[in-house]
Amino acid sequence: MDYNFDAIIDRTNTNSIKYDHRAFGKPEGAIPLWVADMDFMTAAPIIRALQKRCRHGIFGYSEIDDSYVKAIRHWYKKRYNWKIERDWLVPTPGVVFSICAAIRAFTAPGDPVIIQQPVYHPFMSAVTDNGRDLITSQLIIEDGQYTIDYWDFESQIIRNNIKLFLLCSPHNPVGRVWTRQELLRMGDICKRQGVTVISDEIHSDFVYSGHQHTVFADIDASIADITVTLTAPTKTFNIPGLQVANAFIPNDDLRARFVQEIQKTGVAGASLMGIAACRAAYERGAEWLDQLLPYLYGNITYLQNFIA
Ligand SMILES: Cc1ncc(COP(=O)(O)O)c(C=O)c1O
Repeated sequence: MDYNFDAIIDRTNTNSIKYDHRAFGKPEGAIPLWVADMDFMTAAPIIRALQKRCRHGIFGYSEIDDSYVKAIRHWYKKRYNWKIERDWLVPTPGVVFSICAAIRAFTAPGDPVIIQQPVYHPFMSAVTDNGRDLITSQLIIEDGQYTIDYWDFESQIIRNNIKLFLLCSPHNPVGRVWTRQELLRMGDICKRQGVTVISDEIHSDFVYSGHQHTVFADIDASIADITVTLTAPTKTFNIPGLQVANAFIPNDDLRARFVQEIQKTGVAGASLMGIAACRAAYERGAEWLDQLLPYLYGNITYLQNFIA
């Protein structure tokens, strides 16, 4: 089907933190460009899957099943050639939730955690709100794009005895799709220094022509062994209110510690609607995404021209 991304849908009075300004303490009339929450209706198969759950009328406690796992495996194999094992998967209510859980699982209060600035702001609050010490390695601009100061990155790790790195890949907000070579260099440093990597890959589906997202954990088995990969269909399909994300952890010990930390929160897995939407998105959402990407690229070009 043809999707119409030009349709303007009124989102006021829908409990939207982006639009219901008065309720959420924002100035009336502000143009809300601060949050990664798109104004497009999501893919038709997702809406149908949610309607089906609604018609059933029972919204009980829920758990993922084989069809959910199959849909995710299919998506990552087809789009990234990444082969996911069933055992690696830990469903969660969100990526930021998972980052916080991972920080508590893999470090102790007061321990340092390294991030690369500028980065999505909850990377900072996740560290400081959990009583850990925030260490920054600044990204640098070279030839008009952000890149990594590997010397600074490794020096900070050594100097501060860092054991946890929060990687944003692709990177929000600098917009870099890290190349395989860049990821390999960061991976080598982390292996050398005994650093566990939380790789937030929530933006991996928004990659444009000429670039290719590399799953950090797929570079090689030794990198997979130190990595927690965090993904979600929620940015891609504009369904963040449904609270569903998927963590992939090949290393048994890291996975057990992560799961144990999640158990302590008293919040288990993804929501019933999140599960239904995630499965539908990865099974039947590709057509919508493949139409959305050129439309978004048009918006990027428009913005670039406007600013120039
Ligand atoms: C890099 C990054 N990670 C995570 C999130 C939010 O993920 P979640 O809603 O699953 O917590 C965002 C939202 O903008 C983001 O940009």
